[in-house]
Amino acid sequence: MKPIRYGVIGAGVISTYMARAFTEGRDSVAVALAEVNLEAAQKLAPVLGVTRLVTDYRELLADPEIDAVYLAVPPFLHRPMTLDALRAGKHVCCEKPFMLTQAEVREVIALQQTVPHLRVNCASSRYLCAGTAVRARAMVAAGELGQLYHVSYQQVTGAPKPGTQLPPWRNDPAKNGGGISFDWGPYDLDWMNFVLGDLFRPRVVFGTMGNYFPLTPERVPPCLNVDGHYSAQIICDSGLTIQWERRAAEHGPTRHTIELRGTQGGLDTYFMPMPEKPGLQHHAHVGTADLKTTVLPDTPPDWNDSMVHPIRELSRAILEHRAPSSSPADNLRIHGILDALILSARTQQAVRIAD
Ligand SMILES: NC(=O)c1ccc[n+]([C@@H]2O[C@H](COP(=O)([O-])OP(=O)(O)OC[C@H]3O[C@@H](n4cnc5c(N)ncnc54)[C@H](O)[C@@H]3O)[C@@H](O)[C@H]2O)c1
Repeated sequence: MKPIRYGVIGAGVISTYMARAFTEGRDSVAVALAEVNLEAAQKLAPVLGVTRLVTDYRELLADPEIDAVYLAVPPFLHRPMTLDALRAGKHVCCEKPFMLTQAEVREVIALQQTVPHLRVNCASSRYLCAGTAVRARAMVAAGELGQLYHVSYQQVTGAPKPGTQLPPWRNDPAKNGGGISFDWGPYDLDWMNFVLGDLFRPRVVFGTMGNYFPLTPERVPPCLNVDGHYSAQIICDSGLTIQWERRAAEHGPTRHTIELRGTQGGLDTYFMPMPEKPGLQHHAHVGTADLKTTVLPDTPPDWNDSMVHPIRELSRAILEHRAPSSSPADNLRIHGILDALILSARTQQAVRIAD
């Protein structure tokens, strides 16, 4: 079978990590690169194995030799480029966050319905290839934990190193959607959507958010205009409650905890590579015995596989004529929560998510 031929748009940090998707494996190959910054384009081109460089991405969209595009540009460009690509007949792998609002996702869905043979996915699917996620999903689907009633999903990451520089778009909610909520939030929500399946039907969100702040005069996060921490209670149609938290720079240690609790068992896991603790710990009371904790065998998440997974997933979906994971429909749910979180934090009210 012929590989899917990609036009890569954007030659920044993440495209460099994604390059292996186009140079290893048989499903995906890059044939051209669009970038407004010539220096960045020239640096990435040999890594991608392409010689064709353009500054206007629409040249790639007009090329009948290109099947699909990989959008690795700042988030405010995801909507116009995705819509343009679909209008030009290209499949799309869009970096996360998929869009800036749920309304933008609806626009994409409306257009995609007119070209249903074209596949669209979001790179927030990155961590869904991990053995831990696949196993946790299978356990939930098979009812191994009984009826799931609570998920606690807490991610606390270390402070950025002093002097860390980031591109200005990351500090501008109009260009990035938000801070850590739009940077890592889509991964969290995509993971929950994947693992929880039909149980993940969020209905009400009550949340708080706060911006990054200087930890010390010497250690100032580079994005003070956007959120650096949030905490949300998500109530799903099934009655499942989810406590979802991220804190990105604080006076405290790093912590990555996901706890699933059901009427017949509990499961502790994590979603990104972190080999220092067991990937899947199952807890259960059986009869009068004390709580039994079992470490389940699993394949630990791997950074290299995670980085390139979204392109591999899109190519396989195209070749297998199926919807990819992290589709626009999945992102409707994800962005519904992000919209609701922002509104709830602003109004200090619980927000109902519309269908
Ligand atoms: N940096 C990361 O670790 C990381 C990880 C995962 C996902 N992402 C996501 O990937 C996307 C890009 O992030 P990044 O960190 O690579 O950003 P970046 O700022 O390093 O790179 C973005 C590139 O897009 C180019 N660009 C801007 N407008 C363009 C246009 N009209 N046509 C062609 N190129 C254009 C810029 O010149 C720049 O080189 C974002 O959505 C981000 O959320 C980033």
